[in-house]
Amino acid sequence: MLYFDNAATSWPKPEVVYETHNRVFRQGGNAGRGVNQSSLRAGRLLFETREALCRLFGIPDSERVVFTQNVTEALNVGLQGLLQSGDHVLTSSVEHNAVVRPLEYLRERGVSYTVVPCSREGILDPADVESYIQPNTKLLCFTHASNVLGSILPIIELGQVAKRHQCLFMVDAAQSGGVLPIQVEEQQIDFLAFTGHKGLMGPQGVGGFYAKPGIELHSLIYGGTGIHSQELKQPGIWPEGMESGTRNIPGIAALGAGIEFILDEGLEKIRQHEVNLMTMLLAGLRKLPEVRILGPQNPNRRVGLVSCMFDRHSPEAVSLELDRRYDIVTRAGLHCAPLAHKTAGTLKTGALRFSLSYFQTEEDIQSLLAALASVIGG
Ligand code: ALA
Repeated sequence: MLYFDNAATSWPKPEVVYETHNRVFRQGGNAGRGVNQSSLRAGRLLFETREALCRLFGIPDSERVVFTQNVTEALNVGLQGLLQSGDHVLTSSVEHNAVVRPLEYLRERGVSYTVVPCSREGILDPADVESYIQPNTKLLCFTHASNVLGSILPIIELGQVAKRHQCLFMVDAAQSGGVLPIQVEEQQIDFLAFTGHKGLMGPQGVGGFYAKPGIELHSLIYGGTGIHSQELKQPGIWPEGMESGTRNIPGIAALGAGIEFILDEGLEKIRQHEVNLMTMLLAGLRKLPEVRILGPQNPNRRVGLVSCMFDRHSPEAVSLELDRRYDIVTRAGLHCAPLAHKTAGTLKTGALRFSLSYFQTEEDIQSLLAALASVIGG
């Protein structure tokens, strides 16, 4: 199998991620549930992954790192916790439904939001964003990189706009965590939502967020926390009060192993490999007849994914042929991001997306291009 769907979920993982998951799953133990050795060991594993996230994202205090099931849940906790009737939000025209649908839900409850248009390539001008600020704008919520166009949004400048106007700044790092540099303090990020199973190289079912000290949030789930059990009211203590119910301890420990792998390899090396592969893929796609590439042409302005359209073939048909005839995995359709497709002009048709990984080689790209040439040429 040649796997080009790493933006949906990365595969394969580093060997140490599989080993860690297997070992911790076999060990057992539930964090914060008593003083037995197993529980203490499980608690330590959660702490170590929080600390690894702090090192990767420049987070000053691991108590402000909360684990969720995925980035969607993290974004929901942030958006539903921060916004109240009367508040206004700015977001972009390349956001995933993980941002847009919670905002729509909140719109019915008195929150308003403005979608700042990106160019057809998915480029966002921070000056445009500033021009949409209103007196009641409370939050700027932007993805770091589009899951359809691959475009990287200018989060440093967006953070500066937010601070100039005393707004909170939320970043969806679903497609950038583990690939692009993220430093929450330098980039003035108040709320960072991440998922474990893409660039962070962990398993599915684990994600989370960082919220700057002082930001008050309520959990979407209430229940057992392993602390202050005598109180019927949910404890306001972080991170436990935000993490009711048993965590996915093998998954979180394996995510920690994925992050350690990334820290050992170095973000620059990972990113350079991605840019090299993308440069080759973009050059190869440009040589094929009838292919229209979506997103920025410059590989340095995008993360490791390329979506495209064909003159005479539907994206679904090409994806199906690649899968059935060549065992090549891609994703066709709207990628849960209709705003991004509208921006690209592909809302009616969808597109075919190839998404890359650190473990792919130039030979893999050549095999993909050869298979694609045969599918669309035939
Ligand atoms: N949001 C993920 C994707 O882009 C699942 O495929």
